Amino acid sequence: MRLAGRTALITGAARGIGQAFAEAYVREGARVAIADIDIARARSTAAGLGEDAIAVEMDVTRQESIDTAVAETVDGLGHIDILINNAAIFTAAPIAEITRADYERAFAINVSGTLFTMQAVARHMIARGQGGKIINMASQAGRRGEPLVAVYCATKAAVISLTQSAGLNLISHGINVNAIAPGVVDGEHWDGVDAFFARYEGKAPGQKKKEVGEAVPFGRMGTAQDLTGMAIFLATPEADYIVAQCYNVDGGQWMS
Ligand SMILES: NC(=O)c1ccc[n+]([C@@H]2O[C@H](COP(=O)([O-])OP(=O)(O)OC[C@H]3O[C@@H](n4cnc5c(N)ncnc54)[C@H](O)[C@@H]3O)[C@@H](O)[C@H]2O)c1
Repeated sequence: MRLAGRTALITGAARGIGQAFAEAYVREGARVAIADIDIARARSTAAGLGEDAIAVEMDVTRQESIDTAVAETVDGLGHIDILINNAAIFTAAPIAEITRADYERAFAINVSGTLFTMQAVARHMIARGQGGKIINMASQAGRRGEPLVAVYCATKAAVISLTQSAGLNLISHGINVNAIAPGVVDGEHWDGVDAFFARYEGKAPGQKKKEVGEAVPFGRMGTAQDLTGMAIFLATPEADYIVAQCYNVDGGQWMS
């Protein structure tokens, strides 16, 4: 019960990695707000976690929705100790085919969403005066470019940069800001990634997934559960002296 008595707001937690974080946090004694644009699925995910979880409708691209979701979380859980900025979308296209609309949507969710959710929760944490933990979901994609993934890679590079600046700024309030950079994590998100590569590289459905899994030094793709240990650790007092860092949890993929 490493998070006993703690409360967490997790964006994009209706499914995938965010859902696994919510489940792990509840197992560790926390109460969580499952915040997602897909409120129906957020409600069913929260219902599966019982009385320690609430569902909150949140579109991280709209300031009003961010403010309402933070207020509803504070109402429902009492306060917020931990924020996980997890909501994001993937997109891919050759440079010649990137559309402005796709670029703006990816930056609105992955970058502005991360920054302004972090700001709203940091304001709450500062006013409360008891510090806090903020974990941003980056990616190995944020550490270098990829030929077909310019926009998503750029959004995740921005998340790493925001983590560094916010980490340095907010530690004076006892708020630790750090990030996790996964490699390739199986789930509905990667089904979508696989479909992009099927389209642009002419691969059969499932082929890209198989290739990336085999290329991971650990020997397989990651699972959402592979990431929960880091998400728990970064939210505990044992991580108090860790500031503005981004940790790879990727089965050795980045190093290889
Ligand atoms: N799956 C991977 O291989 C992988 C690798 C590296 C990093 N990541 C990162 O991990 C995080 C979680 O990934 P995942 O695989 O669980 O993705 P996912 O697509 O399964 O889940 C994303 C969630 O975000 C929600 N969402 C989308 N737009 C939103 C918005 N505007 N407001 C609020 N919620 C919104 C979706 O409804 C969904 O529930 C993301 O930040 C992703 O970029 C994933």
